Parts: sequence; structure tokens; C-alpha cells
Amino acid sequence: MQLFPRTARINARNHLEIGGCDVVDLAREFGTPLYIFDETHLRARANEIRDAFCSRWQNSLVLYATKAYYSPYIARIFKDAGLGIDVTSEGELEIARRVGLDPDKIYLHGNNKTPAEIRAALTQGVTHIVIDNLDEIELVAHIADELRVTVRVLLRLAPAIDPHTHRHLATGIAESKFGLPIHTGAALDAARRITHHSSRLTLVGLHAHIGSQIFDVQPYRDTIAALFDFAAELRAAVGVELQELDLGGGWGVPYTETQNELPIEQVAEAIVSSFKLQVSKLQPETSNLKLIFEPGRALIASSAVALYTVGAVKEIRNVKTYVSVDGGMGDNIRPALYGATYTARVANKMNDAPTQRVAIAGRYCEQGDVLIHAVDLPRVERGDLIAIPVAGAYQLPMASNYNLIPRPAVIAVRDGRARVVRRRETIEDLLQCDVDE
Ligand code: LLP
Repeated sequence: MQLFPRTARINARNHLEIGGCDVVDLAREFGTPLYIFDETHLRARANEIRDAFCSRWQNSLVLYATKAYYSPYIARIFKDAGLGIDVTSEGELEIARRVGLDPDKIYLHGNNKTPAEIRAALTQGVTHIVIDNLDEIELVAHIADELRVTVRVLLRLAPAIDPHTHRHLATGIAESKFGLPIHTGAALDAARRITHHSSRLTLVGLHAHIGSQIFDVQPYRDTIAALFDFAAELRAAVGVELQELDLGGGWGVPYTETQNELPIEQVAEAIVSSFKLQVSKLQPETSNLKLIFEPGRALIASSAVALYTVGAVKEIRNVKTYVSVDGGMGDNIRPALYGATYTARVANKMNDAPTQRVAIAGRYCEQGDVLIHAVDLPRVERGDLIAIPVAGAYQLPMASNYNLIPRPAVIAVRDGRARVVRRRETIEDLLQCDVDE
């Protein structure tokens, strides 16, 4: 059951079971496409990631990158685990407010934060803003002044490090739209400008998020070295002492059996040991630097399975066989957008031996809407259920209503019980914003 969440097993009916629930029963009760979250897995994963860092560096804070998928249900689970969040919109802030997340653990991000977002965050008591560009400094200072609050700011740096991932996912390279380059002097300029607003803004730290789906620890070591070099420059030029260092997220997770896992212990060990080495150079006495991480995918991806029903099966003789399902790019744009690869099992024929190589096609009117180009499956026919693991990150939050198709329901399973945490959209939902008079 590699790649499936930890409570997944094959039951006596030859069906996939998650959280003690037979997915064939779940499909019957809740319909498909259906996103199934294994709550036991989700909670355990959050604790593992938190402990991997806190056990190595006590003053560590793990922020969940909410863009990977946020909902009140997810927010409560990660709040229970003591995690903070990295947010980029008023919507994400609103969920945090509703579940009563400590505003001190909320970091506001974004390369083009709107005045409304900044105002909403500061009104909510959010204490940390990650500055992305020079332009934003005046804006944040102005709003902080208007609201008579002080803000702890971090500078997002583009340390010119290539994390060797898909080009859409490399965010710390010199040409990135995110962050301030160090080598052009922009980062130092930003630090100076912040100190001009010292009554409202306090520069407490540095941030870098170099990219996503990274399977090598070396780019993180290089990032830490680059940030500490800049911290030394900052101390000399502006007299600012580093209090917080935020290394972003990006740890890769495998989506298919052929991709290797990057174990969390390995990431934590590599990062924290490089960090400690740098701390001893910059602040040889004792240091209570806050070390921050912002994983999204690594926290949530493996906890969910997407479940689809097979419809048309089309064999193009000597070319390929398309198994079409009732979802596709509307709920998972990743294969079409990044060439992301996935694997699948027939959830109602789990132990049947594979007999054919097929493509899993989505139902949307787009040739690129193919969820999996090649996967070996047993004989598949209309009505069978296709389960795709590692469906928890960047699928639901990037979902669309293309072809005017409602988005899937989301359920959480645990100890044999299933509950809806997001009801299936209806056509009525889709039409309610249209005005026709
Ligand atoms: N911190 C910042 C500032 C970020 O921009 C991101 C992700 C993260 C943390 C979390 O990265 P993660 O640990 O999840 O890799 N839609 C793409 C991924 C885009 C990531 C955007 N930023 C995908 O589906 O692969």
C-alpha cells in the first residue's frame, strides 16, 4: 500500500479501505469524484514534522503553507498540532480567524499583497508580514500607522539558488518574481527603508522559499549559507540582529512508486545541522534564533486519496486504451500544468493482477486532460472505482469549474466513521454569482 495513507488496507472484499471505511461504500454514500482524507494520517504527519524540527532546535516553528489546501477542517487539525500558518489571502486569513488560530503564529505572504489584505491581517492581530518587494514597505508602514500597530517584518530574499525542480516551481532563482535579490543590493536597500519606519516596522528576520518538489537537501544548505552571509552584512550595514529565519517549504513527496521519498528526519537533520553551524559562526554565544519552516505539500499531500468512477473505456487498437473517469483537470490540474505524474489502483479490485497498460483520462473538454498517461491495471469496466493516492496538496485549492462542472465533495475518515467536511458543489452553487436580468 505504498503511497496510500497509513490506515489504508485491502479488506476481505478485495476493496480499498481507509480509516476503517470501505471506499466502495463511501462512493455509494457520497458519490464521486470524492476526496478522502485519512485523519489519523494527517494528525500523525503534522506531529512527526513538528517533532523532527523541535527535537533538534527547540525554538522551531512549523507554519503550514495553507495554499496547499485549507479549509476549517484542516485548520483545526493543524491548530491542534500546534502549527502556525503561512497565508496569502483574505480567504485563508478568514479561516484562521474562524478557528481561532493565534495571530502570533500567522505570517502574511504574497508578491502583491493588496491594501485590503494587509489591513485585514493587521486588524486581526497578525504580527508578522513577509516583505516581498520595495514597494510594499511604504504600503505596510502606512497601514500600520493608520491602525496604530507595530509589525514584525521579515525580508523575502531570492538567494539565486536553483532547486532543480519544474521551472514553474523554482522560486528562489535570480529571475524569480518572488523576493528581493541580494546581489543587486535590493535586499539591503529594503532593510534600510524598513529602519526608516522603525516606529511601526521592526525587521526581525529573513525568509527564502526556493521552490517546491525538492528532493535534495543541498539547495537548503546553500540557502542557509546565503541567508547567514546576508545576515552578517545586515548587522554590519544596518545594525539589525537576526531574530527569525524562515526557510520556506518545498520538501518533495513521491507521487509514484519510482520516485524516492525524502524522509523528514533527513531533511530536518540536514537543515538543522547547517543552521547550527551558521549560528555558531554568527552568534557564537548562545542564540535563541527562531527557526521557521513552511511546508505545504509534505504536511498534507499523502493524507488524501481521490476516488473516481470509470465511465467510457476506449481502446485505440495498437495505440492505447483510455479509461475515462468522472473527474480530471477540474479537480486536478497538476498533470496538465506541470506534467505531474500519479499512480492509480482499481479500488474495488485491489488484489487483481494487472493485465493492461492504460491511460486515465479526465472528463473535461481538453486533450491535455489526462490524469495518468500510463498505468498498469487489471481489466477495468464502467462502474469500477479508480483511486489515486497523494491527492491532498494543490488539487482541491487549484480546482476549477471548467465545463461548468461542480467541484468534488471532501470527506474525512477515521475509526470506521466518515463525515463530509466539504459538501459537493451543486449546479445551483455555480450559477449563484451570475446576474441575468
Ligand atoms: N512557502 C511559500 C512562500 C510558498 O510560496 C510555498 C509554495 C510554500 C511555502 C510551500 O511549498 P511546498 O512545501 O508545498 O512545496 N501548485 C504547485 C506548487 C506551488 C507551490 C507554491 N508555493 C504544485 O501543485 O506542485
